[in-house]
Order: sequence, then structure tokens, then C-alpha cells
Amino acid sequence: MRRKIVAGNWKMNTTVAEGVALAKELVAAMSQVPSDVNLVVAPPFVHLTSVGEAIKGSKIALSAQNCADQPKGAFTGEVAANMLAGIGCQYVILGHSERRQYYGETSATLVAKMALALENGLQPIYCVGEMKDERLDNKHFDVVKAQIEEVLFGLTPEQMGHVVIAYEPVWAIGTGLTATSEQAEEIHAFIRKLIADKFGKQIAEDCTILYGGSCKPSNAKELFACPDIDGGLIGGASLKAADFIAIAQSYTISDDALDGVSGGSKIIMPARD
Ligand code: 13P
Repeated sequence: MRRKIVAGNWKMNTTVAEGVALAKELVAAMSQVPSDVNLVVAPPFVHLTSVGEAIKGSKIALSAQNCADQPKGAFTGEVAANMLAGIGCQYVILGHSERRQYYGETSATLVAKMALALENGLQPIYCVGEMKDERLDNKHFDVVKAQIEEVLFGLTPEQMGHVVIAYEPVWAIGTGLTATSEQAEEIHAFIRKLIADKFGKQIAEDCTILYGGSCKPSNAKELFACPDIDGGLIGGASLKAADFIAIAQSYTISDDALDGVSGGSKIIMPARD
């Protein structure tokens, strides 16, 4: 089933104490979140156990931000998928552009991570998205197609049924620039068609595809109203409980209810440096 998911990628932010406090604020606000909206939080590794405790019994799910490409052994500093599953993670973010850009993650690495995540019952939130120059050169469809084909097309249809996809244009991440709902919907529909052509119409229809990149209370409503945008992967705005909850309410609430929550600039295309 396609789901409405609003996931918070905390990246390398908050101490454990701050993360637990944020998680508790979210739990306390859950009655304001529509029952069909699934909240997910992805704190840093060292927070997972404590944040997992704080959200226990609530409808908030726990995600890691990454996992190792090896099952176990002498890989100093890495965290294996089965360790994450063992402490109650339900999701793991894979292929985030920051991992690709700063830590050299390739499709080959991601194929290995994807297999281990799925083997251990984790639902991967697989991130794709083009860089600014690729968008300006009109290569965004090719880039996203390659990222989907290289990492997802080796999966079985059953495995694909457990994967959530997040389209995050790199030029929109943390920049205040957001893809217009038309730009985002166009790529989301394109991704769904790629999945349909490979895995069949039903799996594509059921696939949850999130938008990420400066998504915030002021633009979430317009983005989430698009037929192929099922929710968001939220960075900065997930660190403020009120903003994260307001985003989760964006499937249903009126513009008036958004008054008072922090907003941001609207779109537009990046310019060349
Ligand atoms: P921002 O919402 O801060 O732009 O980050 C998006 C993101 O990278 C989520 O994974």
C-alpha cells in the first residue's frame, strides 16, 4: 500500500539529550497528526536506543541514516544492518546525496547496503536526485534514471515492495530553494513510471515516493497535494517539533492553520555560479 510518510532526517545534529527531548515533544504532539500519516525519525546512530525508548508506544517509527555495506567483521566505525534491526529500527536511509558526495558512496556500495537492509527487515528510504549543474544541463531525468536502475533494478518485486524512494534535488537541500511542485511532480511521476516499467503497475502504484529539499510548513501542502508525492524527507525543519508536526499536518490543514509556523523562500531554479 502506498503510504503517507513524513520522515525527519536529523543528520549530524542534536546531542542525545536534545534528541530525546525533541522525540518527546513529537510524541506529545502526535494527537495533532492525522492517523493516516506515518512519522519517522532518523537520529544519529548513538541516539537510536534512547530515542527509540522515547518514542516507544507511539506511532513514530525509528530510522537510521545509513548502514554498512558488509554484514559484520573488521570494519572499524561501521554499523551493520542487523545491529540496527536489533535495536528496533524499522527504516534506514540509503544513498543520501551527502553520503554520495562526501563519503564516495557508489551504486555498487548501495546495492550491497540495500540487500543487507532488506535481508534484515529494514525498509530502505532510497534517496535519488540531481546536482545543480545536472539540472541546469537538463540531465536530471538521466541522472535519476541511472540511480534508480543501478540500485533498485536488481531487486525482486517482493523486495521492491519494501523500498521507499525519496527524490531530493541536491540544489534544494539546505539551500532554502525548493523544487516547484510542478518540477517535483514531474520527476516523481517519472520515477513511478520507471518502477512500473520494471516491476509492474501495481508495485509502482503502491510505492511511496517522498520529496526532500527545503521542505517546510510553508511549501509542504502544495508539494503533498501532487498525485505522485506521498510525503517528505525533511532535514532542517525536522529539528523543530512544531515545524515537523505542521509538515505532517500538511495533507489536510487549511492555509490559516499554517500561520505562525516558520516558512521560507519559494522556489525557484538555481542559477549558475
Ligand atoms: P533540508 O530539508 O534541510 O533541505 O534537507 C533535506 C534532506 O537532505 C533530507 O534528507
